[in-house]
Amino acid sequence: MPFRIAVIPGDGIGPEVIAQGIRVLRAVDAPLDFVSYDLGAERYLRTGEIIPDPVFEELREASAIYFGAVGDPRVTNPHYAAGLLLRLRFELDLWVNLRPSRLLAPGMTPLKEAPSIDLVVVRENTEGAYVGIGGQFKRDTIDEIAIQEDVNTRKGVERIQRYAFQLAKQRRAAGHPGRLTMVDKSNALYLAHDLWQRVFAFERSRTPDIEAEHLFVDAAAMQLVKNPGHFDVVVTSNMFGDILSDLASELVGGLGQAPSGNINPDTGRGLFEPVHGSAPKHTGKGIANPFGAILAGAMMLRHLGEGRKADQIEAAVISAAGNGRTTRDLGGGLTTAAAADAVLSMQDPVLLAGAGPTTDRRDTPMRRSASADILAQRRAVRLRGVLRIRSRERDV
Ligand code: NAI
Ligand code: MG
Repeated sequence: MPFRIAVIPGDGIGPEVIAQGIRVLRAVDAPLDFVSYDLGAERYLRTGEIIPDPVFEELREASAIYFGAVGDPRVTNPHYAAGLLLRLRFELDLWVNLRPSRLLAPGMTPLKEAPSIDLVVVRENTEGAYVGIGGQFKRDTIDEIAIQEDVNTRKGVERIQRYAFQLAKQRRAAGHPGRLTMVDKSNALYLAHDLWQRVFAFERSRTPDIEAEHLFVDAAAMQLVKNPGHFDVVVTSNMFGDILSDLASELVGGLGQAPSGNINPDTGRGLFEPVHGSAPKHTGKGIANPFGAILAGAMMLRHLGEGRKADQIEAAVISAAGNGRTTRDLGGGLTTAAAADAVLSMQDPVLLAGAGPTTDRRDTPMRRSASADILAQRRAVRLRGVLRIRSRERDV
């Protein structure tokens, strides 16, 4: 049974880059069945709907979600973006946001010297300042008060730090430094981030074989620019992770090539997306970089247990980047589709034949009868995660 992938191309350049990501995923012959969902600004403007409840249930049942971007200058209601992407992150409890930054080719860094940069930001994805708790009082008067709470729960802080320690172990086993940096602002946020400190002390004592350090977020931003090669796994809160991962992605070539995964390791659910937004000024010009979306597709494959095919895609992107076959944000001159062609041409030519058309928009709703298969697949993914963690624990 193929995995059922719910595709939400979304707004702006989202559909342009996701179409190329699907071509590449098809080319490696991954066992994926794509079902495209017409969600986004067009639908919202037309019908007022963001995600109708029956559609949300279908998304919940998918093996994974492949997401483009949300955001349209015509939509000013902030509840629109929150009702689409944040709702999926929060209600599917996708508590890990993995944001890797890897220098694909030395020429892509804006830094004077090109160190080897290969780090991953593990961002807490369901709490912090983004939960929408707060209010405005005496709005639009001189006495206005605006409050937005920063929510940190023991459960949330523990699970994200524990995950990051495990990831550091896993990366060390794969030849990375396996160094963990916990980033907070506990000197100023001495209530909320004191919890991060106490959890960190506990997790560090449980995992003494992992080199773990702490940085305040301002120092971390400075060190990321000054000495990015030092970092391996960075774990932090929702807002700091959002900001530091954009900074880290700029060090390796910019938002256009940055992938991310929103994952719940307990349930096996996952949503994979480029880090960038809808980039309205680039929309419809065929110049958006598809590498972030393509690499997000590779992360999705790895999550589903198709690591070999994920490696194949990543290697092809690195080859394309190394040969300067990129869109202009990375110094090349290719269109979105031509950059994806470059990735495809770096793969086995036999696989290239299966690449298929450049767009994939089907509006077929997901069949209910398939849900049992999907649940079985998701259980298998979850079990693989559990087994991985158990086998790592035996290594301690
Ligand atoms: P953005 O990520 O859309 O674009 C910022 C700039 O980065 C662009 O102007 C462009 O210069 C560059 N860029 C981004 N993606 C690129 C690509 N694939 N190829 C080449 N260059 C690329 O962020 P911005 O302009 O702040 O937000 C635009 C809209 O997207 C807003 O509505 C915002 O709320 C939304 N947004 C959505 C996100 C998501 O869906 N995950 C994330 C960030 C912003
Ligand atoms: Mg961001």
